[in-house]
Amino acid sequence: MLGCPFSTATDQTPPPASDELAFLAEVHSGAGLADRIAVCRAALAAGGPAPLTSAELTWAGRVAWRNHARCIGRLYWRTLAVRDERTIDTADGMIASLLDHVALAQADGTVRSVMTVFAPPERAGGPAPRIWNHQLCGYAGYRGRGGAVRGDPKNVALTEQALALGWEAPAEPGAFDLLPWIVAGRNGPPQLFRPPAGLLREVGLRHPDLPWFEGLGLRWYAVPVVTDLRLRAAGTDYPAAPFNGWYMGTEIARNLADTERYNLLPLIADKLGLDRRSERTLWKDRALLELNVAVVHSFGADGVRLVDHHTASVEFMKFCEREKSAGRDVSARWDWIVPPMSPSTTQVFHTPMREFATTPDFHAQPPAWSRE
Ligand code: ARG
Repeated sequence: MLGCPFSTATDQTPPPASDELAFLAEVHSGAGLADRIAVCRAALAAGGPAPLTSAELTWAGRVAWRNHARCIGRLYWRTLAVRDERTIDTADGMIASLLDHVALAQADGTVRSVMTVFAPPERAGGPAPRIWNHQLCGYAGYRGRGGAVRGDPKNVALTEQALALGWEAPAEPGAFDLLPWIVAGRNGPPQLFRPPAGLLREVGLRHPDLPWFEGLGLRWYAVPVVTDLRLRAAGTDYPAAPFNGWYMGTEIARNLADTERYNLLPLIADKLGLDRRSERTLWKDRALLELNVAVVHSFGADGVRLVDHHTASVEFMKFCEREKSAGRDVSARWDWIVPPMSPSTTQVFHTPMREFATTPDFHAQPPAWSRE
């Protein structure tokens, strides 16, 4: 076991352009590979997207997951279902496809990993479809007079965009109001869509031993479908390529506990009867633990797949071993991989990591409305 808590060294020079098609070797061999590389190179040189087959696109999506330095859940990268929707470039078409994505991903609580790839720009850098939301599910954040936020502060800017586009917030704005989708086709204005009530599954939080917990009225949605990252694969950018895995419990606990999010630890600590006058009572740690217990318990009781951070750490170590056997280095960011609860009790905390540029991969992009 190696103690290396701050090994977050990065080597982020982008991969050379020639590497961007290297993943095709995992789909083809011999002359077939050389032909496919030549065809893709020619298309890229002409300024267009690489004309990947659906099988190649599937592999690109899986390898992007396998490569992504911030994800602890990569053991399951081969199970990703990739939906080839590259012919879709209108808001209506995207909304219909996203509804299917949700149905497939939620799968009665089993939670399947799914990615949907919409049309890339016709020419590199040109207009492409975008989804304005951070995720398909997200709770509105309403900034009131005086600056206090009701709901999720993370979504204040998106909530303002939705309101400006004509979204009507519930008459009585709540802490957990699901936001509408804002979807823009390649050409044409962003369109608002309110998913039908009940379509996006949510879990009400309760605690196995603390009956009052349920009365806090806390909830979270079942599946995180990330919609604002750009997929870069085979020299081509896909600004709309939403994907989902399943939650790790600490992600939800942090959303509810972080001071710049729901900031609920003082409330939970008070309910637990803890003394908040001194840091030395460790009231934050105790409140955070009970919140994590409630998240893991509630998802389990509702039959919605969610991994606890101990299991996720074991799975990540197994992933690293498998990658080593396959002759591949793992790019990983220690500060993202290590769970935020009891980190030193997990093996990943004691494992040095290095981040380096990979392809295919997912990348941050400016908010869609910043180009409007
Ligand atoms: N951390 C994000 C959230 O709390 C979700 C990111 C993706 N997570 C995942 N388990 N696939 O909503």
